[in-house]
Order: sequence, then C-alpha cells, then structure tokens
Amino acid sequence: MNFLSMLAPVAGDMERVDELIRARLDSDVALVREVSQYIVASGGKRLRPALLLLAAGAVGYREKPGGTALFQLAAVVEFIHTATLLHDDVVDESQLRRGRSTANAAFGNAAAVLVGDFLYSRAFQMMVELDSMRVMRVLAEATNTIAGGEVLQLMGSHDPLVSEERYLEVIRRKTAKLFEAAARLGGMLAGSAPGLESGLADYGMHVGTAFQVIDDVLDYSGDEASIGKSLGDDLAEGKPTLPLIYAMRCGSAEQAATVRKAIAEGGRDDFPRVHEAIRASGALDYARAAAQREAQAAARSIEALPQSEYKQSLLELTSFSVTRKG
Ligand code: IPE
Ligand code: IPE
Ligand code: MG
Ligand code: MG
Repeated sequence: MNFLSMLAPVAGDMERVDELIRARLDSDVALVREVSQYIVASGGKRLRPALLLLAAGAVGYREKPGGTALFQLAAVVEFIHTATLLHDDVVDESQLRRGRSTANAAFGNAAAVLVGDFLYSRAFQMMVELDSMRVMRVLAEATNTIAGGEVLQLMGSHDPLVSEERYLEVIRRKTAKLFEAAARLGGMLAGSAPGLESGLADYGMHVGTAFQVIDDVLDYSGDEASIGKSLGDDLAEGKPTLPLIYAMRCGSAEQAATVRKAIAEGGRDDFPRVHEAIRASGALDYARAAAQREAQAAARSIEALPQSEYKQSLLELTSFSVTRKG
C-alpha cells in the first residue's frame, strides 16, 4: 500500500478540489494572495478533503454532471485545516512546515495570523454557498471545537502533570474533530442512513486520534525531510505528549525526572536526553500501540459499509495513519 494508490479512487476528484482551492484564494489584497498561495502551493497531503471524498464514495454519492458541491465541501475542509496550521505555527513558534519556512517565519506573525483569519472566513463564505444548515452546523461545531482544543492544550503546556486522558481530550478536539467532520459530511451528502453517517463520524474521530498520536511520536523519532517539520517542536513548547506522559509514568525514576524537567523548562537543550529516555522506557512503542488500537477502532466503525474501492481505501487509511513516516 502506498499513499497514491490509497487515494487512487478519488484522484480525479482531488484535481477538481485543488482547482477550487487555488481559485478561491483570490483576493484583491496582494499580501493575502501571496501568503495563502505560499502555504497552499507548498503541498500538504490534502488528507482531510480526500477523506471526505472517500466517505462520500463509500456511501454511493457521485457528483452530478456539472455539480460542484462535493468538491467545494472538500475545499472548505482543507481551508479550515490550512487556517489552523497558520495559527498553530505562530503559537508553536515553528520554523518549518511542508518542507519550507513557515508562513510566520517567512512573512511574520501578524501576516500569518491575519491570513489565517482570511482563510477561515473564506471557508465560511464557501460553506454558506452550499446552503445547507446541517453542513454549516457540523463545520461550525468542528471549527469551534478545534479552537477550544488548542486553548486547552495551551493551558497544559509546561505542565508535567497532564494525564493521558487529558492529552487524549486535547488531540480529539484539536485534530480528530476535523477528521470526524470530513468523514461525516461525506456520509451526509448522499443522505445516507443515520447509522452509516455516525459510523463514518466515529471512523474519522478514531483515525484522527491515531494520526495525531503518531504525529507526536514523529516529533521525536521522525526524519525532518519526510515530515517537513522540525523535530523537537513539541518539547521546545513544553508540550506533554503521549510519549512523555508514558515515560514519566512508567520509566525509571531518572527517566521520569529528565522528562519532567524538560517539560517544565521547554527549549531544545534537553532533546537528546529526552529522546533517549522515551526510547529506552518503551514510550514510543507504547504510543504506537495506542495509535494502532485507535486505527483498529476506526476500521470497526465502518464494518457496516458495503464493500467498495472507497471502503478499501478508508481501511488503508487506518494503517497509513499508524505507519506513516510523513
Ligand atoms: C498537520 O496535519 C497537523 C496535524 C494535525 C498533525 P497534516 O500532517 O495533515 O498536514 P499537511 O496538510 O499534510 O501538511
Ligand atoms: C496540530 O497540532 C493541530 C492543529 C493544527 C489544530 P500540532 O502542533 O501537534 O501539529 P504540528 O506538529 O505543528 O503539525
Ligand atoms: Mg504545531
Ligand atoms: Mg506535532
């Protein structure tokens, strides 16, 4: 299984989505165009719109000839995601995203925040055009939950006492919620049976959780060229992610103390020591196993969907979320 073959059933539709994304970055303000094109053109996996398209395909929805609602909805989800990245990189003081300088590093914090607002509000304009109260309800709730999740995470930064439960609560809100919304919306378009729609929503929540747990593993063990981000960003911000929480709970007294101090102080100086502590304590393996359980729960959530190439891709996406290197 590779990334391209996983997304093959929706490859043609994804081109339509990309066209729409580019067209809707339009603004008469030059800096808006410059910053938004900068982040969008630097790539990204476009996973959330692909998930929406796969979910729609799995419940039998096909866009009508000349219709655009499906592609537009997928573009909205990517716009919301991109806006959160612009803001997240300011908050996390990150320097690298999608293999190049973050927008905040290239254009400054003010431009990154303001263009993030532009993308959020453009997403709202586009969703209103779809004229569906149910769609708006799902996306309004998701966007608000993400913002709350990022603030909940902020409250726990530099706090070594954050529990595994609390960590999971944060990542469900800040990351998995948008996966949930994307999968649910795909199911909603076809007017599919409520059970299928909620199964897809559960699928999105579990896959998104696995995806973020692995993101937090990769922040220590990944390869910068593959993830396109700097290693150690989480530690620099004093973020108590799952590998660290496990090492404090189950590592030796010395390993636990190393991690506690690094979370409290933040910065990058402790990275080699913390990396060794989480590796030696089995924390990375523990986190990978937790992600694996979420991926299995995701697969179970869509058991009721009829067999199709779309469903097959959704199942491959559960494995990808755990085994991915970037
Ligand atoms: C990055 O998401 C933010 C997280 C939730 C970890 P992606 O890894 O999907 O980012 P892009 O869009 O592919 O760059
Ligand atoms: C990503 O959180 C979640 C959102 C953007 C809402 P992270 O801070 O863990 O993601 P990366 O590592 O910067 O992509
Ligand atoms: Mg970040
Ligand atoms: Mg991260």
